[in-house]
Amino acid sequence: MPTDDPRSASGCSDAGFTDADAAALYDVLCPWDARRWPGDAFYEPLVLAADAVLDVGCGTGAMLHAARRHGHTGRLTGLDPDRASLERARRRTDVEWVRGTAAEAAWDAEFALAVMTGHAFQCLVSDDELRASLAAVRAALRPGGRLVFETRHPQARAWERWSPEHATEVVDVSGRRLRVWHETLSVRDGVVTFTETTATPGGRVLRRATTALRFLEPAALDALLRAAGFTVEAVYGGWDRGPVTAESREIVAVARRP
Ligand SMILES: C[S@@+](CC[C@H](N)C(=O)[O-])C[C@H]1O[C@@H](n2cnc3c(N)ncnc32)[C@H](O)[C@@H]1O
Repeated sequence: MPTDDPRSASGCSDAGFTDADAAALYDVLCPWDARRWPGDAFYEPLVLAADAVLDVGCGTGAMLHAARRHGHTGRLTGLDPDRASLERARRRTDVEWVRGTAAEAAWDAEFALAVMTGHAFQCLVSDDELRASLAAVRAALRPGGRLVFETRHPQARAWERWSPEHATEVVDVSGRRLRVWHETLSVRDGVVTFTETTATPGGRVLRRATTALRFLEPAALDALLRAAGFTVEAVYGGWDRGPVTAESREIVAVARRP
């Protein structure tokens, strides 16, 4: 997974570029590949070792697709509110796909592992949404089950690189050459609002989506997890499972339902 990519997933498009096109483009820009991206390599063994996995904010489902391809024989469930992403996920019918937000998760003690990959956790913006989401995911886990996710450390100020100079040139699944860039609009109280623009190489804008992401400090994250009834098993500063330091760009959390 490109670590600098905000992996935004919502917005509106004009007639030239549909939500389905945007979901397909996501998989081109952010392919799930454990051989290539350390974050994906971190999750893959955890997922393969768990008999029942809930992928919260599963997007286009690439992580669960890979788990099945790599031999996972247990229960795999993907949850996401975005219709176009889930449509793409549904190309695999041997995984359960559910439309909804984390806070709407209604399972009762069914999963050994819940994950939020690709910084999906940061889509939980308000304190109320964070609390409701954590409560629902905790309830979906069996006692002893774990929630594992990453969130960008605010000290790394990732949003400062979300600017047109860092545009990516890409060819989409139908062979169109496209230019994609992000632009930060505001940074306020730990909430970063930015646009993702998809355009032709000549600059004709096909789609512009606005997204807000929450950036939590480690202490605030720890307090939220504990208040939601989780035991915080580990907090890493990166995919190598090292400690959080002044240079960490990520906070990787492993929380357990007691
Ligand atoms: C950046 S994408 C990550 C997708 C996928 N997990 C990955 O690793 O590529 C974030 C996803 O979170 C989803 N999302 C947004 N708000 C959410 C919420 N409240 N609950 C669950 N998922 C949410 C979006 O629809 C989007 O698919």
